[in-house]
Amino acid sequence: MRIGMLNGGGDCPGLNAVIRAVVRKGEGRYGHNIVGYRSGWRGVLEGDSVDLTVDSTRGLLHRGGTILGTSRTNPYRSGDGGTQVREALHRDHIEALIAVGGEDTLGVAARLHAEGLKIVGVPKTIDNDLSATDYTFGFHTAVQIATDAIDRLHTTAESHDRVMICEVMGRHAGWIALYSGMAGGADVILVPEEPFDIEEVCRQIVQRHRRGARFSIVVVAEGSVPAEGTMELVSGETDEFGHVRLGGISNNIQGEIERRTGYDTRVTILGHVLRGGTPTAYDRIIATRCGLAAIDAVHEGDFGKMVALQGTRIVRVPIADAVGTLKTIEPAFLDEAAVFFG
Ligand code: F6P
Repeated sequence: MRIGMLNGGGDCPGLNAVIRAVVRKGEGRYGHNIVGYRSGWRGVLEGDSVDLTVDSTRGLLHRGGTILGTSRTNPYRSGDGGTQVREALHRDHIEALIAVGGEDTLGVAARLHAEGLKIVGVPKTIDNDLSATDYTFGFHTAVQIATDAIDRLHTTAESHDRVMICEVMGRHAGWIALYSGMAGGADVILVPEEPFDIEEVCRQIVQRHRRGARFSIVVVAEGSVPAEGTMELVSGETDEFGHVRLGGISNNIQGEIERRTGYDTRVTILGHVLRGGTPTAYDRIIATRCGLAAIDAVHEGDFGKMVALQGTRIVRVPIADAVGTLKTIEPAFLDEAAVFFG
């Protein structure tokens, strides 16, 4: 069988491990031909592809980014995207497709499957906000990078008696902020799931300093929003899926903290650093197992499914189950983190 593969949306540590696993088992065990599309759905539409072989995908396991490149191209943005994709795959003699992505890429995959395309999905996002899977590869790496940064911010915060704000990615869900904040011993964690009251944030910091602390660490997910709705949050630019470009809420929070508490406050925005570099061992394993499970599903003709980590097992779920609603943090988990605030 001639099988296409693409990754769409933001890149993510572990993507190359998925590619390697799909090719190793697809060609090595099953004798299929694997074709990689460059730059996500754009590569399909433009016929930009490369043959992937066991030989050409050696040495990829530890490499960050993706050898295929990626984009946020949305084939349904204009015209009849489904027909265009189907025609493009037919032209390339592709019989089935493996799509690696987050809510947007898999949303397109679910639609294409409903229109008759043979497709299998692999969940990918550092944000960890896809339903039906316990964790997505890339998340663990992002949490480790953020935790290392918070550890470093601790020592300089202590030296200068400062409040340090560390902003991390997390558009709709604050998983990276929560995990790295808990692991890094943050004094305040702000997430999109729970709009924050800046007065309460300042009260917690002041209380902590009155009890003898000389510095504080505030971890903020980029998608956090103030309860009062008074702060300017976004640049206004949107991508092809209509998402506003985030990043910078911390600068508003910094001004408010300094104005309300008088404490010297600094901001570090980790942004795309969280998506860069080599994946952790854990992410390499999840990514590899997801790649193997995806090629198994294609080989068995079990289409319209996404491979998912549930407990310690990789299972198959309908792609639609993963993209219907996002996986957000439950209030009880936030309460556990809040024990250490203030
Ligand atoms: O992949 C999701 C994400 O990591 C979000 O947290 C973030 O807002 C977005 O990617 C930014 O991606 P880019 O700048 O590549 O569009």
